[in-house]
Amino acid sequence: MTDRLVGCVQKEEGLVIPDDWPGYNLELFNYPEHYRGDIESVLIPHGVIMNRIECLARDILEEIGHHTLMVLCVLKGGYKFCSDLVDSIKSQSRSTNRQLTTRVEFIRLKSYLNDRSTEDLHIIGPEDLSIFKGKNVLIVEAIVDTGKTMKALLQHVKMFQPKAVKVAGLLVKRIPKGSETLPDYVGFVIPNRFVVGYALDYNEYFRDLNHICVISETGKQKYKV
Ligand code: HPA
Ligand code: MG
Repeated sequence: MTDRLVGCVQKEEGLVIPDDWPGYNLELFNYPEHYRGDIESVLIPHGVIMNRIECLARDILEEIGHHTLMVLCVLKGGYKFCSDLVDSIKSQSRSTNRQLTTRVEFIRLKSYLNDRSTEDLHIIGPEDLSIFKGKNVLIVEAIVDTGKTMKALLQHVKMFQPKAVKVAGLLVKRIPKGSETLPDYVGFVIPNRFVVGYALDYNEYFRDLNHICVISETGKQKYKV
């Protein structure tokens, strides 16, 4: 039995990490030896991510966790967030005696090369999402910056006539122009810097890092394509 969660901040606001937050000294944490020198600091430690996910799971469960919840995981960056979020939703659902079925589908998007967003967005994934018809759908994304990806994805999902579509975004970047669309459930609002770890990559590297970290100049040069 888990205790009912108290003290989680507002889901739409997210936990705000200010621009002048220097991050934690990397040497305080355990991380793969092969990334030594490639990371500047730890922006969000793994334990803090997990705690925030519990809060989001609670809100999601209360609002759309009835009968069946269809989850659309945005790969590759969203795989860890999605897995931990669904685990938390299921365990809180069990401890509150709800009859909830979850089903996870996957979609792959690609738009980044090095640390830049490219114009062409590729949706690679199931053509047919008609199983979403009449159901509550939760899109799970690791990071939202311009909001363009999210907008395109929302349009795509709505074609299959779900009952409701919500978006959970672990990170929202504070970019100068602001995002076009914001997720319904926000984990953290972070400075406009390129981050890696917890399944977020730089040219496919760093996904195997547990914490969300800021990449160093050395790291960017080393893994540039
Ligand atoms: N890191 C990794 N992938 C991303 C980022 C980022 O900061 N922004 C958009 N995709
Ligand atoms: Mg990427």
